This record gives sequence, structure tokens and C-alpha cells, in this order.
Amino acid sequence: MKQFNTVAVEGSQFGDEGKGKITDYLASHADVVCRYQGGNNAGHSVEINGVKHALRSLPSGIYNSNVTNVIANGVVVNPFALLDELDENINSGLKTYHLLISNRAHLIMPYHIDLDGAYEEALGSNKIGTTKRGIGPCYADKAKRIGIRAGDLLDKDYLYKRLEGALAVDNKELVAFGKKPYEIQPLYEKLLKASERLIPFITDTSVYLNDMIDAGKKVVFEGAQGSLLDLDHGTYPFVTSSSPTSISIPLNAGIAPMKIHKVLAIMKAYMTRVGSGPMPTEQVNDWGNAIREKGHEYGVVTHRPRRVGYLDLVLLGYTMRITGVTDIACMLFDVLMDVKDLKVCVAYNLDGKEIHYVPSSEPEYARCTPVYKDFKTIPHFDTKKIHCFEDLPKEAKDYLGFVSTYLNAPISILSLGPDRSETVNFKEIF
Ligand code: IMP
Repeated sequence: MKQFNTVAVEGSQFGDEGKGKITDYLASHADVVCRYQGGNNAGHSVEINGVKHALRSLPSGIYNSNVTNVIANGVVVNPFALLDELDENINSGLKTYHLLISNRAHLIMPYHIDLDGAYEEALGSNKIGTTKRGIGPCYADKAKRIGIRAGDLLDKDYLYKRLEGALAVDNKELVAFGKKPYEIQPLYEKLLKASERLIPFITDTSVYLNDMIDAGKKVVFEGAQGSLLDLDHGTYPFVTSSSPTSISIPLNAGIAPMKIHKVLAIMKAYMTRVGSGPMPTEQVNDWGNAIREKGHEYGVVTHRPRRVGYLDLVLLGYTMRITGVTDIACMLFDVLMDVKDLKVCVAYNLDGKEIHYVPSSEPEYARCTPVYKDFKTIPHFDTKKIHCFEDLPKEAKDYLGFVSTYLNAPISILSLGPDRSETVNFKEIF
């Protein structure tokens, strides 16, 4: 069978694993970078020559002038926020860039953001802890068949008709929540204004991606969030409203499943989570606080402090099983240097029984307690002197070796700092 030059970059935990850094790193060898789900709830940071760039909807290959960056049909795009993000990056040094937006991508409208807030308020103590960017309501409108798509911006009359339909439904909901309904005309005019800049980017990206893949070009598929926030496979209901797993790429980008050659799981060396939901290895103590500070574990989008815990191999094993991971990139490994009480979770105890799977029921999962394996402290080492696995101290090799064996996948990339240059490639991805 023909071998395709494609790799899926997938968050294997609860998001914020460092996908942006690895996508930017791989982009320097790639022709195309494609974001396939989520929206501006994502916060990918890319650090180039010591300067940090925050990306939310733009693919992380945007700083590589030879790369075409695709926002595929599975992404939800806030047209106004996207233009602001583009301008912010242009102001901070982005010069030549290539961007395409799928004509089938759904648009996040201001009323989606209001509804996101209204749902969270109504849920009270049961709230999900969303990023309040309108992600859930936009995907809900897509399923309700009242969404507005990027391609609708190309036809003014059709756009008006679609907006009329959406507001007929969503305004009723806003009023029911005690919120202000939207008038069509100002919103329509605002959209027309934004469309002047957006239209040149809008195209059928499925055609483009297939042409590129078939021509043997190197394509990176960049996921947002992480597989444990997946709408189907994550810790429901504490999930996002799309599928961050690589198995969703065919649907979300319009390509056939066999065109995904490699799946690179991005794995932080410990766990973090933002928002509500189960996290069995969470450490609400000095250990967790110290890692949060050392790893700068604060959200890129909402600036919320992230919850911190020990690496959970049960959760990672679940990601491996459902998504067919071929390689692992271990991120923020330098943060573990000199850390006392190092351990990883290898099983859960559920009502006195040891289990190795993630229960689907929220109450059952809440009763799970971690079973740990202890590791020796990894001594401080000079990250600049690490060029291959053998260069690492024994304690680091023990930790990584155990994780790789448990998960049955090679650690192909090790990240030892935020900059592009602080990345060690143990095994070629492309
Ligand atoms: P939403 O995606 O804004 O609907 O939020 C749903 C859940 O996903 C919340 O727990 C968020 O904190 C979480 N979430 C959404 N985007 C990200 C991300 O990029 N990183 C980490 N968590 C995220």
C-alpha cells in the first residue's frame, strides 16, 4: 500500500500538553499544517528565538513561511477573533503566511458566546468550566442544522437567510435565559465587513489536502485540546464539544482514514487539567503547587491555574488504545528534574478491585484511587548535552523507559524547554 507522508499530532491527556511547540517544530520539515477541530478555546504557544507567540485558532505552522496552514471543516471559527489574532501576530512579527479556511467550517457567532455563559450559569455547581468562547453552542447549532458556515460568507443573500434561521431559534433560547436577543441587521453588517478580509482564505480544503497528500507532500494534522476531553471518549460530561482524537481527522478534514500514516501522542511528563471533572492523580498540595510554578501551568486562553498531578498511565493507555498511537513526544520533562516523591499511576483501585481501564460512569470514576509506582528523583542535568536517549541520567532513562514499555510505543521526541531548539529527536517522524 502507498505510504503517505502524514502525521497526526494529538494531545493524549486533558489538553495543554505542548502540541503547539511540536507542531511548529515538525512544521519546519512540513508542507502543510492542518487544524482539524476545536476553536479559539485552544491556546497553543510557540516560542521562536525567545519570543512567545500565543495562537488560538491559527494553526501552529503559521510562523513557517513555507507552510500552508489549513483550518479544516471540523474547526469552529470565530471570524472576528480570528482577524484579531491574525493582527496581533502580524504586529508581533508575523510577515509572510499562507492560510486556507474550509468553506464547510462553522462560524462562532456572538450569540454562541452568550449561550455558553448562560448554560454555565444555569448549571451552577454542575458547570463544566468551559472557556466561554461559544464552542459548545456553535457545535450544537451545527448538529441542529442552523449553523453558519464560512462558505456562506461568499453569498450575501444566502448568508442573510442562514442568519435569519439561526436567530429565530437562538434568540428564543437567549430570551428564555433572560439574555438580550440579537438584531439581525447590525450582526449581518459586521459579518459582511469581516468577510471582506476572510473571503480570500476560504476554499474547499478537503480537495487541497487530498491533492497535497496524494502528491507526497508532508502534512501535519494538529489537534486542539486532548483525547480525554473528547466528546465521545473523554470524561463526559466534563469534555469539550468536538473530538480531539486523531481518529476524528478523516471526518474533520475530509480525507480517507488510511491517509493518516503516524499518530504522535503529545504527553506531558505529568498531568494537568483545567476546568471541572475527574483527575484521580491530582495533587492539591506543595508537590502540585511546586510543579505548577516550575512548569508555568496557567491557561493560555483563560489564565486559569491548571490542576496538577502525577502521570496517569491508565488514562494514557486508554488514549493509546482508542487512537493507535505510533510515537510519543514527552513534553516538559525538564520540570521533573530534582522533584522529590516522583511516581506514576499504573492502575486504579475501584471498590477494592484493581482495574486498568477508565470507567465511563462519572460516579464510578470518582471512586477510583490511583495505584502508584515510585521512581527515584531525576538529578539536575545539562539539557544542552542531551542528543540521544543514552545521554540522559539513569533515573531519567528509568522513568521514560517504564512509560514507553507500559504504553507500548517509542518516545520519539523529548522536550527539555520551551524553545524550538530545546527539542531532542530520538526517532525521525517524517
Ligand atoms: P469548552 O471547550 O470551552 O467548551 O470547554 C470544555 C472543557 O474543555 C473545559 O473543561 C475546558 O477547560 C476544557 N478545554 C477547552 N479547551 C481547552 C484547551 O485548549 N486546553 C485545556 N482544556 C481545554
